[in-house]
Amino acid sequence: MTKGVFITGTDTGIGKTLVSALLARAWDADYWKPLQTGVAQEPGDTETVAMLARRRPDQLHPPACILQAPLSPWAAAMLENVTPDTSSLRLPVTRAPLVVEGAGGLYVPINETLMMIDLPALLNLPVLLVARSGLGTINHTLLSLHALRQRQTPVLGVIMCGARSASNRQAIERFGQTTVLAEIDALPHIDAAIVDDLATQMPSFASCMQQPA
Ligand SMILES: Nc1ncnc2c1ncn2[C@@H]1O[C@H](COP(=O)(O)OP(=O)(O)O)[C@@H](O)[C@H]1O
Ligand SMILES: [Mg+2]
Repeated sequence: MTKGVFITGTDTGIGKTLVSALLARAWDADYWKPLQTGVAQEPGDTETVAMLARRRPDQLHPPACILQAPLSPWAAAMLENVTPDTSSLRLPVTRAPLVVEGAGGLYVPINETLMMIDLPALLNLPVLLVARSGLGTINHTLLSLHALRQRQTPVLGVIMCGARSASNRQAIERFGQTTVLAEIDALPHIDAAIVDDLATQMPSFASCMQQPA
């Protein structure tokens, strides 16, 4: 029985943290960001999800690796003369479903041997792919799906973020042979009350798990 999902995206800044917060709120799930970079400039995603999804501290699992620079884990770790040790990455044991958020997109290097795309398999989690809704998304989304399928990583579906585009959705579903499980509009502002509201429109954990991967 799968314990959770791995949230990845077609890019950085694409809406992974917002989607993670929405799903954590909708599923009353725990949240884990295993590799957090960029804390020198911005609060980590765990803090953002805690606030947006009203998670208690015991529902938040601390990152295994926290790095200062807003770079890939590989590059940020080099600046600090450390090596992200993925052998110590263990899925936290939780009673609730677990939302795990990756860093950046799929071909982001973690260390000399691993990229982000290797993490779902390492953690034995199926993937939800966050994609932007607008121009350029077909290419980025289909490439990401192709890379995941090449590795036989189960993909539950895509969540699109931004002003809705029926034709982009159709292209992603048809040529990506996948399902767009939710569309999140371009929001004028984002806070916990908006997340409360939008969370009611998210697919259930059970229905996501039933998607043909
Ligand atoms: N649907 C949306 N409408 C408006 N702003 C959004 C939307 N999705 C994400 N954002 C904003 O874009 C930025 C990046 O989103 P975030 O979820 O942090 O992306 P990621 O985790 O992929 O880096 C944040 O400032 C976030 O509030
Ligand atoms: Mg994020």
